[in-house]
Amino acid sequence: MIYESILTSLSHEGKPHIAPFGVRERDGLVLIAPFKPSLTLENLLATGHAVLNFTDDVRVFAGSLTGHGTWPLRKASKVNGYVLESALAHQELELVDVRDNPQRPELYFQVRHIETHAPFRGFNRAQAAVIELAVLVSRLHMLPIEKIDDEIRYLQIAIEKTAGEREQQAWQWLIDKVENHKAEINGENQA
Ligand SMILES: Cc1cc2nc3c(=O)[nH]c(=O)nc-3n(C[C@H](O)[C@H](O)[C@H](O)COP(=O)(O)O)c2cc1C
Repeated sequence: MIYESILTSLSHEGKPHIAPFGVRERDGLVLIAPFKPSLTLENLLATGHAVLNFTDDVRVFAGSLTGHGTWPLRKASKVNGYVLESALAHQELELVDVRDNPQRPELYFQVRHIETHAPFRGFNRAQAAVIELAVLVSRLHMLPIEKIDDEIRYLQIAIEKTAGEREQQAWQWLIDKVENHKAEINGENQA
């Protein structure tokens, strides 16, 4: 099972970086598997620490992929890292094992600290739709544009029926990114 989270990491110089990551549990440890190259990967190897933030503010997923928004952070309690202010809960992690791989190394973490900040308010289909489109947008250059258009047509239904303002904003940022990508492809084809 994979949980979609916002991972905060710190560079060697102490600069925070946030990125959406799917995480798994394996033998009591948390497994994070970044594709190379990745700033998150560099940071995790440099500091040995990570914070996993569980949030229902899907603008953070869409915004961190599309360069929109600034997401307030505060110092973590037990590890060298930062917590997303909008997290409903977070886990502070310490790197305990690395299995290197040319494409996608596996990083195993021990959970050092857990905090809950706000209750889970139930499932929302528009939030799930934003996460789905965010995953596609993070792989935009690897996917055929027809597949992305098909998925958007289907996911749009949940947005129209169940989105609030945050979900609409997040959705629009992702749609804009897809439209820009299409315009680039058309430009290349005409050149
Ligand atoms: C929901 C979601 C889950 C993701 N999970 C992963 C993952 O497990 N591994 C990965 O390499 N990228 C994953 N991505 C893509 C990264 O967030 C994205 O490529 C990001 O820019 C990482 O690169 P960076 O570390 O250089 O910022 C995911 C994206 C989304 C939207």
